[in-house]
Amino acid sequence: MKIAVLTGAGISAESGIQTFRDSNGLWEGHDVMEVASPEGFARNPKVVLDFYNLRRQQLLEVSPNLAHTTLADLEKEHEVVIITQNVDDLHERAGSTRVVHLHGELLKVRSTVEEHTILDWKKDLNLGDLCKNKHQLRPHIVWFGEAVPLLETAIDLVEAADIIIIIGTSMQVYPAAGLIQYAQEDAKIYFVDPKPSIASSERITVFAEKATTGVPKVVAQINSLL
Ligand code: APR
Repeated sequence: MKIAVLTGAGISAESGIQTFRDSNGLWEGHDVMEVASPEGFARNPKVVLDFYNLRRQQLLEVSPNLAHTTLADLEKEHEVVIITQNVDDLHERAGSTRVVHLHGELLKVRSTVEEHTILDWKKDLNLGDLCKNKHQLRPHIVWFGEAVPLLETAIDLVEAADIIIIIGTSMQVYPAAGLIQYAQEDAKIYFVDPKPSIASSERITVFAEKATTGVPKVVAQINSLL
């Protein structure tokens, strides 16, 4: 079976990474337009770099959880692709081999000018850190107001999927939240979230619980169908 898994911040919550819109979420303590927009970076690059340097340090201290590893194991039986809004590398560290990062990656940086100059980066990023063509490096993150370069790739993968599993997202940020509409008519959809933002239906099965308990149940149900 072709399985497309759409994940949001909720799948990494039990690894210790803050979500964005839950109580004491990341956006409660920060002004999105100051730390996650091109305008904010132009206005005060140091505030932005400090924000991402802190998140990168935190990421280096956490590990994948059972939800990530269960999805990685799913690759042994099915053709699985993870389409994630998350910028952490927990899916990869859990063993998933096909991960599409719609919103970029915290452990990578890119040139502020040549968008395809992308470098692995696991230390603090500071003003004056330049690419080989002497352009300032910036976090390889898709900021609010910027295009999502991998959107077409994600749409093609959702359209091709027999099963779609959506985990830990408030479904509030487009275009990622709109991917569900590209599902095939007869595709089976599963949704795992303690506060689900979509309701069960003929084709959608909702597990209103956390990822580490809900994802194994979804996988068990998928395997019982075969
Ligand atoms: N298991 C599963 N889901 C959880 C858990 C958990 N343990 N804890 C919280 N959640 C759910 C919440 O109920 C919520 O629906 O995770 C979701 C988190 O929602 P958001 O904080 O809005 O995160 P997300 O949907 O990933 O945000 C999308 O918004 O700010 C941008 O670029 C940022 O990628 C992010 C995008």
